[in-house]
Amino acid sequence: MGKSTVLAELARQLNALPFDTGIVYRALAWAAQQNGISLDDESRLNSLAQQLQLELRREETSNGLAVRIVVNGQDVSEVVRAPELGEAASRVAAYPGVRAALLALQREVAASAERVVIAGRDIGTVVVPEATLKIWLDASLDERVRRRYHELQQRGEEVTLAEVKRDLMQRDQRDTSRAAAPMQRAADAIVIQTDGRSVQDIVQQILLLAKERARCADAARTV
Ligand code: DC
Repeated sequence: MGKSTVLAELARQLNALPFDTGIVYRALAWAAQQNGISLDDESRLNSLAQQLQLELRREETSNGLAVRIVVNGQDVSEVVRAPELGEAASRVAAYPGVRAALLALQREVAASAERVVIAGRDIGTVVVPEATLKIWLDASLDERVRRRYHELQQRGEEVTLAEVKRDLMQRDQRDTSRAAAPMQRAADAIVIQTDGRSVQDIVQQILLLAKERARCADAARTV
């Protein structure tokens, strides 16, 4: 079970744009690197965030759904997912000014398509609190460590389980304890426990919930 696989599969079946919001923070970290801006330089990162341009292009391929990520005119689809950018993204995401600028950008992307499936830690609480359906995918730390370890091994990176666990715990600590929009589950989100479950199984459950939600909305309109 990978969050991004669930996102892509859901978006494909719902004919929607998949929007993984971690990309926005990763894009900023990438742009900072390109411009030689230190991750400690809050004020230059704030300005960079205000100028950041991001475009997502949905593409159906024979292997499923792909999204090209274009940042400031350059295609960064592959590079933006590098593990070291994840670490840098977590650091830039802790600055309130950066979050404010990137919030506006996320809402723009969310509004750019008729239907959108959005993944991220603060979507239901901050970015799109009016979302039709909110799902919170939960997994135990050990399960997340296993998935991440597997993913890194597939990329040919040499890491130990203990290192992966330490990094994940550090990242969680930073993401949940920062002052600006700490990651939080929305009170009206439906929690799905994902340990040991397949992507297809989870996607089917969410599609059923989405159908049910759409039926309720239709019924409310006809009353
Ligand atoms: O999901 P990811 O690994 O691509 O996210 C990278 C970092 O971006 C994550 O550690 C915290 C930040 N992030 C965030 O603060 N809010 C989001 N909605 C998505 C990501």
